[in-house]
Amino acid sequence: MDSIKLGIVGTSQIAKKFVMACQDVPEIIPYGVYSRTFESGSTFAEEMSIPYVFTAYEEMLKNTLIDALYIASPNAYHFKQAQLALEYGKHVICEKAITSNLKELELLIEQAKEKKLLIVEGMKSLGMPTYKQVKMNLDKIGKVRKAVFNYCQYSSKYPAYLAGENPNIFNPKFSAGALMDIGIYCIYPCIDLFGMPKSIKAQATLLDNGIDGSGSILLEYEDKEVSILYSKINDSSLGSEIMGEEGTIFIDTISSPLTVELRKKGQLSLTLSAPLEHASMYYEVREFVDTLIKGETESAVYSYKLTKNIMSILDQVRRDIGLMFPADL
Ligand SMILES: NC(=O)c1ccc[n+]([C@@H]2O[C@H](COP(=O)([O-])OP(=O)(O)OC[C@H]3O[C@@H](n4cnc5c(N)ncnc54)[C@H](OP(=O)(O)O)[C@@H]3O)[C@@H](O)[C@H]2O)c1
Repeated sequence: MDSIKLGIVGTSQIAKKFVMACQDVPEIIPYGVYSRTFESGSTFAEEMSIPYVFTAYEEMLKNTLIDALYIASPNAYHFKQAQLALEYGKHVICEKAITSNLKELELLIEQAKEKKLLIVEGMKSLGMPTYKQVKMNLDKIGKVRKAVFNYCQYSSKYPAYLAGENPNIFNPKFSAGALMDIGIYCIYPCIDLFGMPKSIKAQATLLDNGIDGSGSILLEYEDKEVSILYSKINDSSLGSEIMGEEGTIFIDTISSPLTVELRKKGQLSLTLSAPLEHASMYYEVREFVDTLIKGETESAVYSYKLTKNIMSILDQVRRDIGLMFPADL
Protein backbone atom coordinates (compact mmCIF):
# COMPACT_ATOMS: atom_id res chain seq x y z
CA MET A 1 0.00 0.00 0.00
CA ASP A 2 1.59 3.30 -1.00
CA SER A 3 -1.34 5.67 -0.69
CA ILE A 4 -4.34 5.63 1.61
CA LYS A 5 -7.76 7.06 0.84
CA LEU A 6 -9.44 8.13 4.06
CA GLY A 7 -13.08 8.36 5.10
CA ILE A 8 -13.86 10.71 8.00
CA VAL A 9 -16.62 10.26 10.58
CA GLY A 10 -17.75 13.45 12.31
CA THR A 11 -17.52 17.07 11.33
CA SER A 12 -16.46 18.87 14.52
CA GLN A 13 -13.31 20.95 15.11
CA ILE A 14 -11.19 17.92 15.94
CA ALA A 15 -11.99 16.28 12.60
CA LYS A 16 -10.94 19.51 10.88
CA LYS A 17 -7.65 19.53 12.78
CA PHE A 18 -7.05 15.92 11.79
CA VAL A 19 -7.68 16.62 8.11
CA MET A 20 -5.37 19.65 8.29
CA ALA A 21 -2.67 17.45 9.84
CA CYS A 22 -3.11 15.04 6.89
CA GLN A 23 -2.04 17.83 4.54
CA ASP A 24 1.57 17.26 5.62
CA VAL A 25 1.37 13.51 4.98
CA PRO A 26 1.29 13.13 1.19
CA GLU A 27 0.44 9.40 1.28
CA ILE A 28 -2.97 9.97 2.90
CA ILE A 29 -5.84 11.46 0.93
CA PRO A 30 -8.97 12.63 2.78
CA TYR A 31 -11.52 11.30 0.32
CA GLY A 32 -14.96 11.20 1.92
CA VAL A 33 -16.80 12.43 4.99
CA TYR A 34 -19.77 10.89 6.76
CA SER A 35 -22.21 13.21 8.51
CA ARG A 36 -25.75 12.70 9.74
CA THR A 37 -26.81 15.66 7.63
CA PHE A 38 -25.88 16.57 4.08
CA GLU A 39 -25.67 20.20 5.15
CA SER A 40 -22.92 19.78 7.74
CA GLY A 41 -21.18 17.12 5.63
CA SER A 42 -21.00 19.33 2.58
CA THR A 43 -19.92 22.41 4.57
CA PHE A 44 -17.08 20.33 6.05
CA ALA A 45 -16.20 18.80 2.67
CA GLU A 46 -16.08 22.18 0.98
CA GLU A 47 -13.94 23.77 3.68
CA MET A 48 -11.54 20.79 3.81
CA SER A 49 -11.54 20.11 0.03
CA ILE A 50 -12.93 16.59 0.40
CA PRO A 51 -14.58 15.23 -2.76
CA TYR A 52 -17.34 12.98 -1.36
CA VAL A 53 -20.07 13.37 1.28
CA PHE A 54 -22.02 10.42 2.67
CA THR A 55 -25.11 10.65 4.86
CA ALA A 56 -25.42 6.86 5.25
CA TYR A 57 -22.45 5.35 7.10
CA GLU A 58 -22.58 2.03 5.29
CA GLU A 59 -22.54 3.76 1.92
CA MET A 60 -19.14 5.21 2.79
CA LEU A 61 -17.93 1.77 3.91
CA LYS A 62 -19.16 0.16 0.68
CA ASN A 63 -16.91 2.47 -1.31
CA THR A 64 -14.04 0.19 -2.26
CA LEU A 65 -11.70 3.10 -2.97
CA ILE A 66 -11.66 4.00 0.73
CA ASP A 67 -8.88 2.18 2.59
CA ALA A 68 -9.15 3.57 6.11
CA LEU A 69 -11.41 5.53 8.44
CA TYR A 70 -10.77 8.26 10.96
CA ILE A 71 -13.54 8.13 13.58
CA ALA A 72 -14.26 11.34 15.51
CA SER A 73 -17.80 10.81 16.78
CA PRO A 74 -18.84 10.80 20.46
CA ASN A 75 -17.06 7.94 22.33
CA ALA A 76 -20.13 5.73 22.67
CA TYR A 77 -20.35 5.36 18.85
CA HIS A 78 -16.71 4.36 18.32
CA PHE A 79 -17.20 0.64 18.93
CA LYS A 80 -20.06 0.05 16.47
CA GLN A 81 -18.58 2.36 13.85
CA ALA A 82 -15.12 0.75 14.11
CA GLN A 83 -16.59 -2.76 14.15
CA LEU A 84 -18.52 -2.10 10.94
CA ALA A 85 -15.50 -0.44 9.33
CA LEU A 86 -13.34 -3.51 10.07
CA GLU A 87 -16.12 -5.75 8.74
CA TYR A 88 -15.88 -3.84 5.45
CA GLY A 89 -12.10 -4.29 5.39
CA LYS A 90 -11.11 -0.75 6.38
CA HIS A 91 -8.19 0.14 8.66
CA VAL A 92 -9.19 2.43 11.53
CA ILE A 93 -7.70 5.32 13.44
CA CYS A 94 -10.15 6.26 16.16
CA GLU A 95 -10.24 9.21 18.51
CA LYS A 96 -9.69 8.65 22.19
CA ALA A 97 -11.28 7.05 24.09
CA ILE A 98 -11.25 4.32 21.45
CA THR A 99 -14.12 2.40 23.08
CA SER A 100 -16.36 2.69 26.14
CA ASN A 101 -14.67 -0.22 27.93
CA LEU A 102 -12.11 -3.04 27.67
CA LYS A 103 -14.66 -5.63 26.56
CA GLU A 104 -15.41 -3.61 23.40
CA LEU A 105 -11.72 -2.92 22.74
CA GLU A 106 -10.77 -6.59 22.97
CA LEU A 107 -13.46 -7.46 20.42
CA LEU A 108 -12.16 -4.82 18.01
CA ILE A 109 -8.53 -5.91 18.34
CA GLU A 110 -9.49 -9.56 17.84
CA GLN A 111 -11.49 -8.62 14.75
CA ALA A 112 -8.64 -6.46 13.35
CA LYS A 113 -6.14 -9.29 13.87
CA GLU A 114 -8.41 -11.81 12.17
CA LYS A 115 -8.83 -9.53 9.17
CA LYS A 116 -5.17 -8.41 9.15
CA LEU A 117 -6.23 -4.79 9.53
CA LEU A 118 -4.76 -2.01 11.64
CA ILE A 119 -6.64 -0.23 14.42
CA VAL A 120 -5.09 2.64 16.38
CA GLU A 121 -6.28 4.92 19.17
CA GLY A 122 -5.27 8.42 18.15
CA MET A 123 -3.49 9.60 21.29
CA LYS A 124 -1.62 12.50 19.73
CA SER A 125 0.86 13.19 22.56
CA LEU A 126 2.44 9.74 22.30
CA GLY A 127 3.76 10.37 18.81
CA MET A 128 4.99 13.92 19.45
CA PRO A 129 8.77 14.58 19.38
CA THR A 130 8.64 16.38 22.73
CA TYR A 131 7.14 13.32 24.40
CA LYS A 132 9.81 11.16 22.77
CA GLN A 133 12.38 13.47 24.44
CA VAL A 134 10.83 12.63 27.81
CA LYS A 135 11.22 8.90 27.14
CA MET A 136 14.77 9.25 25.86
CA ASN A 137 15.92 11.28 28.86
CA LEU A 138 14.18 9.39 31.65
CA ASP A 139 17.41 7.65 32.69
CA LYS A 140 19.02 11.06 33.39
CA ILE A 141 16.97 11.61 36.56
CA GLY A 142 17.98 8.40 38.29
CA LYS A 143 15.48 6.15 40.01
CA VAL A 144 11.99 7.56 39.51
CA ARG A 145 10.20 7.93 42.85
CA LYS A 146 7.16 10.03 42.00
CA ALA A 147 5.32 11.57 39.10
CA VAL A 148 2.41 13.97 38.87
CA PHE A 149 0.47 14.15 35.65
CA ASN A 150 -1.97 17.02 35.65
CA TYR A 151 -4.55 18.12 33.11
CA CYS A 152 -7.34 20.37 34.31
CA GLN A 153 -9.21 22.52 31.85
CA TYR A 154 -12.51 24.27 32.43
CA SER A 155 -14.65 23.00 29.57
CA SER A 156 -16.24 25.46 27.15
CA LYS A 157 -19.30 23.13 27.36
CA TYR A 158 -19.59 23.34 31.18
CA PRO A 159 -21.69 26.55 31.18
CA ALA A 160 -24.20 24.75 28.91
CA TYR A 161 -24.28 21.84 31.38
CA LEU A 162 -24.85 24.27 34.27
CA ALA A 163 -27.64 25.93 32.28
CA GLY A 164 -29.48 22.60 32.18
CA GLU A 165 -28.58 21.69 28.61
CA ASN A 166 -27.13 18.26 27.95
CA PRO A 167 -23.85 18.67 26.05
CA ASN A 168 -22.48 15.37 24.72
CA ILE A 169 -19.23 15.60 26.66
CA PHE A 170 -21.04 15.71 30.03
CA ASN A 171 -23.53 13.01 29.06
CA PRO A 172 -22.96 9.43 30.38
CA LYS A 173 -24.97 8.15 27.38
CA PHE A 174 -21.99 9.05 25.17
CA SER A 175 -19.34 7.39 27.41
CA ALA A 176 -18.04 10.85 28.14
CA GLY A 177 -16.90 12.83 31.20
CA ALA A 178 -13.60 14.08 32.58
CA LEU A 179 -11.79 10.72 32.87
CA MET A 180 -12.53 9.60 29.30
CA ASP A 181 -11.94 13.06 27.83
CA ILE A 182 -9.09 14.51 29.87
CA GLY A 183 -7.81 11.99 32.42
CA ILE A 184 -6.82 9.62 29.63
CA TYR A 185 -4.09 12.05 28.53
CA CYS A 186 -2.43 11.61 31.94
CA ILE A 187 -2.92 7.84 32.13
CA TYR A 188 -1.23 7.24 28.77
CA PRO A 189 2.27 8.54 29.64
CA CYS A 190 2.08 6.94 33.08
CA ILE A 191 1.46 3.44 31.70
CA ASP A 192 3.70 3.93 28.67
CA LEU A 193 6.64 5.01 30.86
CA PHE A 194 6.17 2.89 33.97
CA GLY A 195 3.99 -0.06 32.97
CA MET A 196 1.02 -1.31 34.97
CA PRO A 197 0.83 -0.38 38.67
CA LYS A 198 0.36 -2.91 41.44
CA SER A 199 -2.74 -1.06 42.64
CA ILE A 200 -4.79 2.05 41.99
CA LYS A 201 -7.06 4.26 44.07
CA ALA A 202 -9.39 6.74 42.46
CA GLN A 203 -11.73 9.48 43.58
CA ALA A 204 -13.95 11.81 41.58
CA THR A 205 -16.39 14.67 41.83
CA LEU A 206 -19.56 13.48 40.15
CA LEU A 207 -22.00 16.03 38.77
CA ASP A 208 -25.78 15.88 39.28
CA ASN A 209 -26.32 13.62 36.26
CA GLY A 210 -23.69 11.12 37.51
CA ILE A 211 -20.90 12.06 35.09
CA ASP A 212 -17.46 12.85 36.52
CA GLY A 213 -16.49 16.52 36.42
CA SER A 214 -13.02 15.96 37.89
CA GLY A 215 -10.96 13.30 39.61
CA SER A 216 -7.68 12.10 41.10
CA ILE A 217 -5.96 8.75 40.73
CA LEU A 218 -3.11 7.34 42.78
CA LEU A 219 -1.18 4.60 41.01
CA GLU A 220 1.07 2.58 43.30
CA TYR A 221 4.18 0.80 42.03
CA GLU A 222 6.78 -1.23 43.99
CA ASP A 223 9.20 1.70 43.97
CA LYS A 224 7.17 4.83 43.20
CA GLU A 225 3.74 6.50 43.27
CA VAL A 226 2.11 8.41 40.47
CA SER A 227 -0.64 10.98 41.02
CA ILE A 228 -3.01 11.94 38.28
CA LEU A 229 -5.19 15.04 38.51
CA TYR A 230 -7.77 15.83 35.88
CA SER A 231 -10.78 18.07 35.57
CA LYS A 232 -13.25 19.62 33.17
CA ILE A 233 -14.74 21.95 35.78
CA ASN A 234 -11.68 23.99 36.80
CA ASP A 235 -8.44 25.20 35.26
CA SER A 236 -4.95 24.62 36.60
CA SER A 237 -1.64 26.32 35.88
CA LEU A 238 0.38 23.38 37.25
CA GLY A 239 2.35 21.37 34.77
CA SER A 240 3.35 17.71 35.06
CA GLU A 241 6.60 16.41 36.53
CA ILE A 242 8.49 13.13 36.79
CA MET A 243 10.66 13.08 39.90
CA GLY A 244 13.79 10.96 40.20
CA GLU A 245 16.48 10.65 42.85
CA GLU A 246 18.85 12.70 40.65
CA GLY A 247 16.51 15.29 39.15
CA THR A 248 13.15 15.89 37.56
CA ILE A 249 11.61 16.20 34.13
CA PHE A 250 9.03 18.96 33.85
CA ILE A 251 6.38 18.84 31.12
CA ASP A 252 4.27 21.93 30.46
CA THR A 253 1.16 20.38 28.86
CA ILE A 254 0.74 16.66 29.14
CA SER A 255 -1.90 16.45 26.40
CA SER A 256 0.36 18.15 23.89
CA PRO A 257 3.85 18.68 25.31
CA LEU A 258 5.70 21.69 23.97
CA THR A 259 8.19 22.58 26.69
CA VAL A 260 10.07 19.83 28.48
CA GLU A 261 12.87 20.61 30.94
CA LEU A 262 15.46 18.44 32.66
CA ARG A 263 16.07 19.92 36.11
CA LYS A 264 19.00 18.68 38.19
CA LYS A 265 20.12 19.94 41.59
CA GLY A 266 22.74 22.70 41.34
CA GLN A 267 22.54 22.85 37.55
CA LEU A 268 20.77 25.15 35.15
CA SER A 269 17.66 23.50 33.76
CA LEU A 270 18.11 22.04 30.31
CA THR A 271 15.41 22.39 27.68
CA LEU A 272 14.69 19.05 26.05
CA SER A 273 11.92 20.29 23.78
CA ALA A 274 12.21 19.23 20.18
CA PRO A 275 11.03 21.79 17.62
CA LEU A 276 7.49 21.05 16.42
CA GLU A 277 7.65 21.22 12.67
CA HIS A 278 4.05 20.13 12.18
CA ALA A 279 0.64 20.40 13.82
CA SER A 280 0.37 18.26 16.96
CA MET A 281 -1.90 15.70 15.24
CA TYR A 282 0.55 15.17 12.38
CA TYR A 283 2.59 12.65 14.35
CA GLU A 284 -0.26 10.21 14.96
CA VAL A 285 -1.23 10.42 11.28
CA ARG A 286 2.41 9.81 10.29
CA GLU A 287 2.66 6.75 12.56
CA PHE A 288 -0.65 5.33 11.25
CA VAL A 289 0.40 5.82 7.62
CA ASP A 290 3.96 4.51 8.15
CA THR A 291 2.62 1.36 9.80
CA LEU A 292 0.26 0.75 6.86
CA ILE A 293 2.93 1.45 4.27
CA LYS A 294 5.28 -1.01 5.97
CA GLY A 295 2.48 -3.59 5.65
CA GLU A 296 2.27 -4.02 9.42
CA THR A 297 -0.97 -4.59 11.31
CA GLU A 298 0.11 -3.23 14.68
CA SER A 299 1.73 0.10 15.47
CA ALA A 300 4.89 0.05 17.59
CA VAL A 301 3.96 3.37 19.22
CA TYR A 302 0.28 2.55 19.72
CA SER A 303 0.68 -1.12 20.58
CA TYR A 304 -2.39 -3.21 21.36
CA LYS A 305 -0.93 -4.12 24.73
CA LEU A 306 -0.64 -0.44 25.70
CA THR A 307 -4.09 0.46 24.37
CA LYS A 308 -5.66 -2.43 26.31
CA ASN A 309 -3.75 -1.55 29.49
CA ILE A 310 -5.02 2.03 29.28
CA MET A 311 -8.60 0.85 28.80
CA SER A 312 -8.32 -1.55 31.71
CA ILE A 313 -7.20 1.35 33.95
CA LEU A 314 -10.13 3.45 32.72
CA ASP A 315 -12.48 0.56 33.58
CA GLN A 316 -10.92 0.16 37.05
CA VAL A 317 -11.16 3.88 37.79
CA ARG A 318 -14.78 3.99 36.69
CA ARG A 319 -15.57 1.03 38.95
CA ASP A 320 -13.91 2.86 41.87
CA ILE A 321 -15.75 6.14 41.30
CA GLY A 322 -19.09 4.52 40.44
CA LEU A 323 -19.36 5.70 36.84
CA MET A 324 -21.21 3.29 34.54
CA PHE A 325 -22.05 3.80 30.89
CA PRO A 326 -24.97 2.21 28.99
CA ALA A 327 -22.28 0.37 26.98
CA ASP A 328 -21.21 -1.49 30.16
CA LEU A 329 -24.61 -3.11 30.68
N1 LIG B 1 -7.46 14.44 20.01
C1 LIG B 1 -7.97 15.54 20.51
O1 LIG B 1 -7.28 16.52 20.79
C2 LIG B 1 -9.46 15.60 20.73
C3 LIG B 1 -10.07 16.82 21.01
C4 LIG B 1 -11.47 16.85 21.13
C5 LIG B 1 -12.20 15.67 20.99
N2 LIG B 1 -11.56 14.50 20.74
C6 LIG B 1 -12.31 13.25 20.58
O2 LIG B 1 -13.02 13.35 19.35
C7 LIG B 1 -14.28 12.70 19.43
C8 LIG B 1 -15.38 13.68 19.08
O3 LIG B 1 -15.39 14.69 20.06
P1 LIG B 1 -16.22 16.03 19.83
O4 LIG B 1 -16.11 16.86 21.02
O5 LIG B 1 -15.87 16.58 18.50
O6 LIG B 1 -17.68 15.40 19.77
P2 LIG B 1 -19.08 15.99 19.29
O7 LIG B 1 -18.86 17.40 18.82
O8 LIG B 1 -20.08 15.74 20.32
O9 LIG B 1 -19.40 15.07 18.04
C9 LIG B 1 -18.51 14.85 16.98
C10 LIG B 1 -19.28 14.62 15.71
O10 LIG B 1 -20.09 13.47 15.85
C11 LIG B 1 -21.39 13.72 15.32
N3 LIG B 1 -22.35 13.66 16.42
C12 LIG B 1 -22.61 14.57 17.38
N4 LIG B 1 -23.59 14.18 18.19
C13 LIG B 1 -23.99 13.00 17.75
C14 LIG B 1 -25.00 12.10 18.15
N5 LIG B 1 -25.81 12.36 19.17
N6 LIG B 1 -25.12 10.95 17.45
C15 LIG B 1 -24.33 10.67 16.40
N7 LIG B 1 -23.36 11.50 15.96
C16 LIG B 1 -23.19 12.64 16.62
C17 LIG B 1 -21.37 15.12 14.72
O11 LIG B 1 -21.17 15.02 13.33
P3 LIG B 1 -22.39 15.23 12.29
O12 LIG B 1 -23.36 16.19 12.93
O13 LIG B 1 -21.73 15.78 11.09
O14 LIG B 1 -22.97 13.86 12.10
C18 LIG B 1 -20.17 15.76 15.36
O15 LIG B 1 -19.49 16.62 14.49
C19 LIG B 1 -14.37 12.16 20.87
O16 LIG B 1 -13.99 10.82 20.87
C20 LIG B 1 -13.37 13.00 21.65
O17 LIG B 1 -12.84 12.34 22.76
C21 LIG B 1 -10.22 14.46 20.58
